Amino acid sequence: MTSEKKRATIASIRPEDLILPHSTRKKTKPIWIVREQDKDRALRDLSVEHKNWLEATGWKPRHGAFAQLPGEGGECAGAVFCIGSGEKTDRSALAFGILSKGLPGGVYHFHSNPDDMELAALGWVLGAYNFDPYHTSKNSDHAQLKLPVDCDRGEILNIAEAVYLARDLINTPANDMGPDELEDAARKVAQKFKASMKVIKGEKLLKEDMNLIHAVGRASPREPRLIDLTWGQKSAAKVTIVGKGIVFDTGGLNLKPGNSMTLMKKDMGGAAAALALGRMIMGAGLNVRLRVLLPTAENAVSGNAFRPGDVIKARNGTTVEIGNTDAEGRLVLADALAYADEETPETIISLATLTGAARVALGPDLPPFYTDDDEFADQVEDAGLASADPVWRMPFWAPYDKMLASTISDVNHISNGPFAGSITAALFLKRFARNAARYAHFDIYGWTPTSKPGKPKGGEPQAARALLEALKKRHGVRK
Ligand code: BES
Ligand code: MN
Ligand code: ZN
Repeated sequence: MTSEKKRATIASIRPEDLILPHSTRKKTKPIWIVREQDKDRALRDLSVEHKNWLEATGWKPRHGAFAQLPGEGGECAGAVFCIGSGEKTDRSALAFGILSKGLPGGVYHFHSNPDDMELAALGWVLGAYNFDPYHTSKNSDHAQLKLPVDCDRGEILNIAEAVYLARDLINTPANDMGPDELEDAARKVAQKFKASMKVIKGEKLLKEDMNLIHAVGRASPREPRLIDLTWGQKSAAKVTIVGKGIVFDTGGLNLKPGNSMTLMKKDMGGAAAALALGRMIMGAGLNVRLRVLLPTAENAVSGNAFRPGDVIKARNGTTVEIGNTDAEGRLVLADALAYADEETPETIISLATLTGAARVALGPDLPPFYTDDDEFADQVEDAGLASADPVWRMPFWAPYDKMLASTISDVNHISNGPFAGSITAALFLKRFARNAARYAHFDIYGWTPTSKPGKPKGGEPQAARALLEALKKRHGVRK
């Protein structure tokens, strides 16, 4: 087989170039923040010339609107920016991403601080992301923000670097993001935080009774594998994060029609989100024993592909009838969840671009999640709203479990009808995470279809930032 020379597939813009520590000696330009409901007050502070300029150019202080202010020589001397009421609503929480994207290069500071400075700075960094490795010319001119003295730059960078990593992984086309490359990315993270990592790959999956991961990935020349990363003190609460790592989803023999396949490089979005969350947890030093499991495979078509109607034994002994080879995600997750469950962790979390049905229910921006733990559900929902990474609880509706009945084996992995597709997928997964004290599953889209403030079009590790905040509240930081 011939292959092209390997190239770097990360965005050229980096988080540390976007927010500068307070100690920077660089000259900065002010940004005046105008609150929609209180516009006159902020505008009072401006010079007469700038007030006249805004009036003459017809600037309207509406949520998200900004304007550059001219200096004496006509250069950009600063800006005004208007935000709506309630910076913490999803509408505006990452609004400062509008500025980092829209302002010309230079260093800026806030004339007066926004209500939630950390979230504003995070919005600034996340909004400036631009996936450009495949563009031959790159823009290196970006607007930088000088942080105020009491703003924790390390904490913001820890989150932003993880989000950038996940976006890069998702945005990279499948020809450059196969199981090897995903494994390399996980190993880099493991090395950075001195985590241990092992990989069960190819035929070895069969020896370990991971027949489902093997079946899904065996039609591809790029071998399927389970990536297994462990970090933290043995005695701490065990938190295991499992992410669906389908590097490309053709649907298998139940081939996806037409356009349905176009975006399927993003079918490793769950693995990217799981790795990002793991990176955030390690970077923040949470008091947990962390494990990240990434069942990774390419759902391809070939003579040796698994078929609809096949019966395959999962790691925990359950025999599974294959209803449709395009429901591959829950299969690779089943083996990984069973494997995770064997050490009876306190918490298992799965993240996966699992069903189209989740998007029918809630759209691309609001991933549903499932758990039987009411307290944890509230914590995650609150954290999601507070951090502009919203998620919405849906039920593990036990009566629907019978939709998974099979006449030939213990279970069919898809429902026998057209209803409740995201719920029945979640119920299938739940069968493999029975011992853990708590199980939560997130059916994410992993992608922003049209750019929004702080969320440029493309890959997005949905639910990772929400989960970091919820887990931090629960477990605290290691002393
Ligand atoms: N990766 C897809 C789900 C998906 C599709 C997520 C489009 C986001 C956008 C998954 O593997 C899949 O194909 N699911 C099927 C399941 C069905 C065959 C039971 C689906 O949702 O149609
Ligand atoms: Mn599929
Ligand atoms: Zn898939």
